[in-house]
Amino acid sequence: MDDRDKNNDKVVQDLYEKGWSVVDNYISEAFRKDLLCEQKELLMHGQFRLAGIGSGETFAIKPEIRSDKVLWMDENLLTPIQEVYWNKMDRLKSAINQRCFLGLKSFEAHFAMYPQGSFYLRHLDQFQSVQYRIVSVILYLNDTWEESDGGELRMYFTRPDGIEEYQDFFPVGGRLVVFLSGEIPHEVLPTAKERISITGWMKDRD
Ligand code: OGA
Ligand code: MN
Repeated sequence: MDDRDKNNDKVVQDLYEKGWSVVDNYISEAFRKDLLCEQKELLMHGQFRLAGIGSGETFAIKPEIRSDKVLWMDENLLTPIQEVYWNKMDRLKSAINQRCFLGLKSFEAHFAMYPQGSFYLRHLDQFQSVQYRIVSVILYLNDTWEESDGGELRMYFTRPDGIEEYQDFFPVGGRLVVFLSGEIPHEVLPTAKERISITGWMKDRD
């Protein structure tokens, strides 16, 4: 069994037991740099747009709620590097389906860049218009990250006694965060420097 499969085993087991998982060094340093380099190139060409909330008729840009910029990947126009990412996520999706029976069918993903000072207020990734998002998958690409850089992902959990707790995770390069889109409220705290990631969603329809 190679490391990749071990990583997927851990994600699947965590997801099954508690609905979320954080795995460091999910990808190799070489591949992280490839993805980062590609994303920086796309950023330089000005292809990123302010992210929105909702979809279809309810879509709206609300910088007071989220101020990141995104660029969607096109499954039919993946670059070779994006294709490696896509295939990895496909393998993870199969592994999750085998154990968790979530009926995951398809995948969507965007590059995300949080400029200095940006954030994303508390939310669920499943909203009325996108109930088909079942599993959220975030892969961080940053070269370095210090505590003073902020930009933590804060995930909220409700204990059996009803009390809410949270845990914070820095966007450390190579770290993969996976959680059930409809169950884990989360937010991105204000970042003190540019914060780079790829966010994907596994969906239960095509
Ligand atoms: C999102 C999101 C969290 C992060 O894109 O919906 O919550 O840590 N991202 O980037
Ligand atoms: Mn989210």
